[in-house]
Amino acid sequence: MAPNDTRGDTTSQDTLFGRMALEQRLCTEEELQRCLEDQKSRAADDPSTIEELMLEYGFVTETQAERLESTIEESREAHRRIPGYKVLGKVGSGAMAVVYKARQLSLDRIVAVKILPRRYTEKSDYVKRFFKEGKLAAKLNHNNIVQAIDVGEAGGLYYFVMEFVEGKSLHEDLSKGKVFSEKEALEVLIQLAHALAHAHAHGMIHRDVKPKNIMINLDGVVKLADMGLARLTSDVEAAEREKGKAFGTPYYIAPEQIRGEVNLDGRADIYSLGATFYHMVTGRVPFEASTPSEVMRKHLKEPMTPPDHINIALTAGISEVIEVMMAKKKKDRYNSMEELLIDLKAIQEGRAPLQARQKFNIETLEQLEEGRPVDVQAADETLYTEETVTRYRIGLVILMAVIALLIIFFATYVAML
Ligand SMILES: Nc1ncnc2c1ncn2[C@@H]1O[C@H](COP(=O)(O)OP(=O)(O)OP(=O)(O)O)[C@@H](O)[C@H]1O
Ligand SMILES: [Mg+2]
Repeated sequence: MAPNDTRGDTTSQDTLFGRMALEQRLCTEEELQRCLEDQKSRAADDPSTIEELMLEYGFVTETQAERLESTIEESREAHRRIPGYKVLGKVGSGAMAVVYKARQLSLDRIVAVKILPRRYTEKSDYVKRFFKEGKLAAKLNHNNIVQAIDVGEAGGLYYFVMEFVEGKSLHEDLSKGKVFSEKEALEVLIQLAHALAHAHAHGMIHRDVKPKNIMINLDGVVKLADMGLARLTSDVEAAEREKGKAFGTPYYIAPEQIRGEVNLDGRADIYSLGATFYHMVTGRVPFEASTPSEVMRKHLKEPMTPPDHINIALTAGISEVIEVMMAKKKKDRYNSMEELLIDLKAIQEGRAPLQARQKFNIETLEQLEEGRPVDVQAADETLYTEETVTRYRIGLVILMAVIALLIIFFATYVAML
């Protein structure tokens, strides 16, 4: 790697290089500090850049340094190219795009700018969808949705401007092995279900609900990100592209998305939210495998291990809700986020999820009609809902009253004789 030989630029290049190496966890604070001190002490007789020192000490490899250089270059380009915004630095990158923290100069506020890679934006149909969905997303206004602010193109770069969320993603917690308690998980889920109910009511399906797109700000408010960001490729293509990346695998994708159905509805988001819920309360994704295609096959065909079989501390109610959310056929899932919210709030208040139980019962009846085998124990358990028991009790009381009346009537008749 050719070091920067224009010393005028070196300071800012050094600062950026050091800061990004630290951000991307390629080196520690102490290692960066050591490079900065050595740079000072060597300044007179052996001037070196931070990059050269990091390479010399083995804190970064040649390839890592090259990648950092190109990221710095990209962010400089973004800086020069997006009028009205001052790019302050990179906050992260996903499989397909890079996100920067920036200042929106007109309103003097901090925003996040997502820049799409050129290779995707060369497709004109994608660009059309990007603008159309960006505009729709900007119409949404909900405290649990990352606010879309602007979409645009400048100098061949397509960008999406949104509210900047100071905090962490749910993915960060899960990748550290955090298992959420029911209470904690429900608090997050209810906020997400409200966010999605709002989006669905405005005709928008998210299509990519997953822990990486769920952010939690410093006040603990949950923010659903990437709403209205048209998927860059088909879901299956995207999954294949992300091969080998532990968390890029399609762990949360709905079966109908895998099949490439075009007319997706809100139930696809219910499935993905269910898979996210599953991960939160069990510490595991619902279907694991070594390749994305195997994970997708399992979403399509394999029965899921009930969450309460993995985490036996879970209540049956929460497990039932997740199972209904993740039913393979969308008709067996909750019909809407509103219906799901009724059950989420019921469990939160210690009551039974009656919507889920009704679904179980309907499914059991359909199975019987179609002559498919029924899990009798599960069917029995779910058929005896509180509602059924109450109805049975009322029936019993009426029957007893009728018998008592008949006895009185009969006794009076005998006495009269
Ligand atoms: N509005 C935002 N405010 C602050 N940080 C954000 C915002 N949006 C995204 N980020 C950060 O930028 C990172 C990259 O986001 P991006 O959406 O490109 O990828 P991702 O969702 O993490 O992964 P993938 O591309 O696999 O879906 C995120 O991990 C997140 O930390
Ligand atoms: Mg994202």
